[in-house]
Amino acid sequence: MLVLGIETSCDETGIALFDTSSGLLAHELHSQIAMHAEYGGVVPELASRDHIRRIIPLIRTALHQADKTFNDLNAIAYTEGPGLAGALLVGASVAEGLAASLNIPRIGIHHLEGHLLAPLLEPTPPKFPFIALLVSGGHTQLMRVNEIGNYRKLGETLDDAAGEAFDKTAKILNLGYPGGPALSKLAETGDPNRFKLPRPLIRSKDLNFSFSGLKTAVLTLSNTVRLDETLIRDIAASFQAAIVDVLTFKALLALKQENLTRLVVAGGVGANKQLRQQMNTLVNQYGGTVHYPKIEFCTDNGAMIAFAGAMRLAEASQKPGFCIRARWPLEELH
Ligand code: KG4
Ligand code: ZN
Repeated sequence: MLVLGIETSCDETGIALFDTSSGLLAHELHSQIAMHAEYGGVVPELASRDHIRRIIPLIRTALHQADKTFNDLNAIAYTEGPGLAGALLVGASVAEGLAASLNIPRIGIHHLEGHLLAPLLEPTPPKFPFIALLVSGGHTQLMRVNEIGNYRKLGETLDDAAGEAFDKTAKILNLGYPGGPALSKLAETGDPNRFKLPRPLIRSKDLNFSFSGLKTAVLTLSNTVRLDETLIRDIAASFQAAIVDVLTFKALLALKQENLTRLVVAGGVGANKQLRQQMNTLVNQYGGTVHYPKIEFCTDNGAMIAFAGAMRLAEASQKPGFCIRARWPLEELH
């Protein structure tokens, strides 16, 4: 079964082809970062228009790369949400048009399901059940993943997402947009112990997070000192150390609470080197293993959507052709 994946939830047009017997055949990405950078953030209308410009050429390139044609496709998976409405509509309407013209199914995928299944694209995928730490620009959640489609939320951020905290802090330090990668690069040569920043909710005993206070602590600090290059590096390193301490502590707590040993870290912040190092050390000491997508599949991409679509398709094909429901509340009708 050959599945075309389409991701257009925010500022990346991601297209991929996943084959259920031979794996990922092609993936293409166009990032709009340069276009939005001059505005300091994503401009939704510009994002939608750029997806419209890019999507069909990217699909053609992916098909060409995989030596396939439209007629070889068996299904089309697209990001149904969450995301920017206009941007989502571009992917959804292209998926609908193609699926109708080729007479094949169209599968709407939850963007976060795409992220959390992305490590399963790797050569040694984690076995179910596992804990997933989802750390992106819009979400920070700990989930228990029992199997495809069976997810239980264990905790989440009460305010800013981890990526959002990286980006807002980077903005305070004048590091441009999106600042997460730039901040973490600077942090590599900074002193993480120079400033003692708070580790919010680290003693809360639950699995929730809160990062807006950390960003405010950086704002207050940067207002009281004259920022020079060394200071910016040290603030970046101290901020990163605080956020990584909290993320690793809570991920380990989730493993302990659920009595599991396998952890998946997914989403854009999963590309962070310091997070990966500290998480590996802590989880390995505990006797567990950490699974990541490859760096390029941490941030938004079409491969994770094509893969999630293929998994959904495989699952649906194993279900009986019909079912009955003895109990069926009207609210569950969709
Ligand atoms: O998953 P993603 O591409 O988009 C969402 O679904 O939100 O994540 C993007 C986020 C941004 O906030 C970006 O700054 C952050 O991931 N990010 C990083 C790194 N690379 C991307 N944050 C910290 N360190 C990185 N190396
Ligand atoms: Zn994402």
